[in-house]
Amino acid sequence: RAVGPVVRCPFGRGISERANPEASQAREPGKGTGGDRLFVTRYDEAVSVLLDERYSSDLRSVMTPEQRARLEANMPEEIRPLAHSILLLDPPDHTRLRKLVQPNFTARAMELLRPRIQRLVNDLLDTAERKAVERGEAVSERRMDLIEALAYPMPVTVISDLLGIPVEDRERVHGWAETLLRAEGQDAMRDERIRTSMRAFGQYLDGLFERKRREPTEDMISQMLHVQEDGDTLSHQEMVSMVFILFFAGHVTTVNLIGNGVVALLSHPEQHARFLADPAGLAKGLVEETLRYCGPVDYISTPRIAREEMELGGTHIPKGENLSLGLASANRDPARFAHPDVFDITRPDAHRNIAFGKGIHVCIGAPLARLEGQLAFETLFQRFPKLRLAVPAEEMRWGSVASLRGFNRIPVLF
Ligand code: HEM
Repeated sequence: RAVGPVVRCPFGRGISERANPEASQAREPGKGTGGDRLFVTRYDEAVSVLLDERYSSDLRSVMTPEQRARLEANMPEEIRPLAHSILLLDPPDHTRLRKLVQPNFTARAMELLRPRIQRLVNDLLDTAERKAVERGEAVSERRMDLIEALAYPMPVTVISDLLGIPVEDRERVHGWAETLLRAEGQDAMRDERIRTSMRAFGQYLDGLFERKRREPTEDMISQMLHVQEDGDTLSHQEMVSMVFILFFAGHVTTVNLIGNGVVALLSHPEQHARFLADPAGLAKGLVEETLRYCGPVDYISTPRIAREEMELGGTHIPKGENLSLGLASANRDPARFAHPDVFDITRPDAHRNIAFGKGIHVCIGAPLARLEGQLAFETLFQRFPKLRLAVPAEEMRWGSVASLRGFNRIPVLF
């Protein structure tokens, strides 16, 4: 069910349908893939829900104490930290957790990070070029997979450095992360692979916390442990959950911001030419328009639950109703953005997109993702102005994990 008219899906068939074609064939036409829930498609309604505290992020907010107790009891032990994720909490717990991490993502903190990220981008592009030379590729035929060479390693390195995950552990942590990211739906909680990964991740973090308690370093994990010891305001489950969400949210989304932006630009020749004329001046515009036109968060995510009976865009919302906010479709709402299906990196109001959400849960890492996106786009096109897709854009396959959308591979010639 949709609140208001359904805005055309930006890419024809729904992203989740592409990810899971059997499920989409099996379902009845017109029924969403996100379970029985309202799908908020338009910008104004999506924003009003995001700003309205009568819509909760915490499923438990509409449960009786007995229902809550049953939910907790039925939840496997190792999965419990996930229920304490900042994303799923309401104030005051949400406010307390958010205050702890927010200072790491201020504009000033980002300016201090800028040179490090720039160096990292330069190094990764050096490596891609060196590998092409070693493979003996002619200058006009040098190839790379953009995801493997830049879009993935850059954000994962930045967030791992910020958190303080040692270099030698990153591959392991990423392995668990990959499994957990594919966990969708209620049954995922009972899936043995998910539980094993979560258990391994939890045990790994216990060890890491122990080491950092003994020898604190300059990173977010040490800082959170310090807070925990100081005032006991952060439970162990909350710590695990915070590291988990910062690590995940801190990289998979940004991988897709970079990948989706490069593909969109390379498949719009006129915009591409414009960008090449001034990469430094237009990098911000490219980031914002990418977020609006093909942002990394899929349309069925961003769930909310109605704490009371109310009305939204002419639709009656009963208490306890589940809603999904279609950030992607809101960003293509013709009532908010003129010619919404046109990709225009100079669009004056592209920054009004809600790809990072809005309100109390607005993405904490938005300043970091924006900075990473700008530096990646600017440096990539300045350095390789002849960059082009190695396969036609129509043949590129969208992949999707959890509620994210992007490409698993982006073969380019540079
Ligand atoms: C929350 C998107 C990058 C950490 C959110 C939300 C969205 C979002 C839509 C709000 C969800 C809701 O209201 O239910 C994105 C996109 C990104 C990105 C599109 C990249 C282009 C990052 C990065 C980090 C991060 C780099 C961390 C370094 C978080 C956290 C929250 C969050 C911790 C929860 C905030 C809260 O509940 O108060 N993100 N994100 N995200 N994001 Fe991001």
